[in-house]
Amino acid sequence: MAERLNSDVMTKPDVALEQTLRPSAFNDFTGQAKVKDRLEIAVEAAKRRGEALDHILLSGPPGLGKTTIANILAKAMGANVKCTSGPTIEKASDLAGLLTNLEEGDVLFIDEIHRLQKTVEEYLYPAMEDFKLDIIIDQGPNARSVRLNLPRFTLIGATTRSGLLSAPLLTRFGIRERLDYYTTEQLQRILVRAAGLLGVAVEEAGAHEIARRSRGTPRIAGNLLRRVRDYAEVRGDGRITSQLADKALGILEIDENGLDEMDKRILETVILKFGGGPVGVNSLAVAVGEEPDTIEEVYEPYLIMEGYLNRTAQGRIATERSYQKLGLKPLAAQARLL
Ligand SMILES: Nc1ncnc2c1ncn2[C@@H]1O[C@H](COP(=O)(O)OP(=O)(O)O)[C@@H](O)[C@H]1O
Ligand SMILES: [Mg+2]
Repeated sequence: MAERLNSDVMTKPDVALEQTLRPSAFNDFTGQAKVKDRLEIAVEAAKRRGEALDHILLSGPPGLGKTTIANILAKAMGANVKCTSGPTIEKASDLAGLLTNLEEGDVLFIDEIHRLQKTVEEYLYPAMEDFKLDIIIDQGPNARSVRLNLPRFTLIGATTRSGLLSAPLLTRFGIRERLDYYTTEQLQRILVRAAGLLGVAVEEAGAHEIARRSRGTPRIAGNLLRRVRDYAEVRGDGRITSQLADKALGILEIDENGLDEMDKRILETVILKFGGGPVGVNSLAVAVGEEPDTIEEVYEPYLIMEGYLNRTAQGRIATERSYQKLGLKPLAAQARLL
């Protein structure tokens, strides 16, 4: 099976490389200017007051920098960070173990927080709000609840699907930020910095070519850069020019506009199966074999931003640009011709 280079799935060496490319301070973090500004103010204010940072929820599609920001925040606060993820906390006692091991000011990072069990989530409420943890000790007639005091810690939650978070959990985050897709110019800057760290010779035009085909996503840009570097070393003189990047990306079957297989399948389905729409997200999800939430939170935002889809009260509608992309004529245009 061909590796999907513009997907979120990565090999082990990629994970290691991603660590080295990860900016460790806001200064090295390109884009998301408003989010960065607000978070920097929150950090500075908390530091001046000598308090722990408020709980923070970061949401947005995969690969936009949520984990990176969580680590930058912890570092800026001079705090230790403990990382875990929603699905790995199986029982309330797992959570109790994590919380009771925290020290004053520590950051607890919970990735994919929308996948926390309901029963676990309920233990989190008093922990977040009052820094208290109620645990049940003993069983049967001796069972009793004990209230433990927790140190003042900061919970940073990350999610690709903030819509799935329950209201009680959502409202316990004092700060909620949503990350947006990056512009080509921002990705270009990120790529030039990454190339510098990797010791890769890249021309601005070469970085631009990779950037505009990276689906607005730094992680994808980083992955493509590494594959283009391979090509440059094997088939070129190691230097990434715009032509070389174009050739390499062509071989990798990266779409001219960076759309991936699922993006194209979604557009194709809206047009061919549903006559261009409007189609509801649930019917669309069944037809393409993907979860409705994933369509809504991972794929659709980029397709809408790029003008391939419109979202209306009746459902999703394919735009002229989608038809062009797939080499088809819009029905309306056909009708006008008749
Ligand atoms: N603003 C940015 N500037 C530079 N690199 C970034 C930026 N955002 C993300 N990256 C890079 O993209 C990769 C994915 O970021 P990550 O924080 O893991 O995304 P998420 O947690 O949202 O899925 C990381 O390797 C990181 O180096
Ligand atoms: Mg992450």
